[in-house]
Amino acid sequence: MVTARSFNLEVAQSMREYFEEHPDLKYIFFGGKGGVGKTVMAGVTALWWAKQGRRTLLASTNPVHSLSGLLDQDVFGRHTPVAGVPNLWAYEIDTRDTIERLKNEIRDKIRWFLKFADIQTKADEFVESATMNPAFEESAMFENMVDLMLAGEYDVYVFDTAPTANARRLLGMSKVYSLWVNKMLKSREEARSLRQMLSFSRKEEPDPLLDYLLQFRDRMGQARRLLTDPNRTAFFFVTLAEALPIAVITRFINWFHDFGIPVGGVIVNMLIDRSAVGSEAPEFVMNRIRMQEEYLQVIAEKFDGSVRALLPLFETEIRGVPMLERACTALFGA
Ligand SMILES: Nc1ncnc2c1ncn2[C@@H]1O[C@H](COP(=O)(O)OP(=O)(O)OP(=O)(O)O)[C@@H](O)[C@H]1O
Ligand SMILES: [Mg+2]
Repeated sequence: MVTARSFNLEVAQSMREYFEEHPDLKYIFFGGKGGVGKTVMAGVTALWWAKQGRRTLLASTNPVHSLSGLLDQDVFGRHTPVAGVPNLWAYEIDTRDTIERLKNEIRDKIRWFLKFADIQTKADEFVESATMNPAFEESAMFENMVDLMLAGEYDVYVFDTAPTANARRLLGMSKVYSLWVNKMLKSREEARSLRQMLSFSRKEEPDPLLDYLLQFRDRMGQARRLLTDPNRTAFFFVTLAEALPIAVITRFINWFHDFGIPVGGVIVNMLIDRSAVGSEAPEFVMNRIRMQEEYLQVIAEKFDGSVRALLPLFETEIRGVPMLERACTALFGA
């Protein structure tokens, strides 16, 4: 087995030790540059928790069908038990489905509002402008995630987050949501009292839109509390021993500190094990090993104390449960 020692970087606290120190951890996320191994790490971590006897859900809000590929099993659109692994379910969220559902909800609310405000316009134009933008898709993904988190059907949730900036936007959005909803609530209150004054009636009318906004704000507030609680939530960042992936997670970690979102640590992936290569290795390979060693020193300086694991580059891609088991041993120890 490849240990941290063979890569010449001291891992002060391992992945396993971090989890043992945070026994109530429930929401685990992975971030990092594209292609560095986030989906693999999410899969391996979910496998580990399931092996500890926790009911675990491995979920993806990523529109790309990554989990089905990782597990060699169709897990799209529904919570699917992972074959051969007790306590583990996987679920690739159908974003298109959510978008349709949300569109319909919004259409109903806009229709109701236009009627309430006596505005003679077709709702469809409003619906189009509210839903035909990339931010809407992101917020649909965020809604999906929050739904899962608040449903509380599992002990541990491992999320394979969308690459780089998306994750941060999703989280930043919960703050923006709350500001936005508070503003909406204020103008709704004003409109309501004005209406009451004009109608010369003291009678309270039901206001489904206001109820919805209140409920929405509370849900987002709850999600934000969970996401910023270091006993419940941890974000792990995956990097390679290369300049760009390191730059990406450096930025990421700074953002997350600003948002008060707990960072669990850094995982360095795809390291070439010098001891497995031998002295007759081609110059190309030796160069890459030297490059990785240099960047490992950068990583040691930058992320002092928060490197949780160093993973070797395996001889094949990581796919299917037996291969995940192998990677699990590398990430968590035997
Ligand atoms: N340590 C490793 N050894 C060998 N192959 C690996 C290793 N880690 C990941 N891989 C392979 O690298 C590829 C990319 O990994 P993965 O899909 O987990 O990355 P990702 O960060 O989720 O990518 P994306 O940004 O596209 O979602 C996959 O084919 C995976 O099997
Ligand atoms: Mg992925």
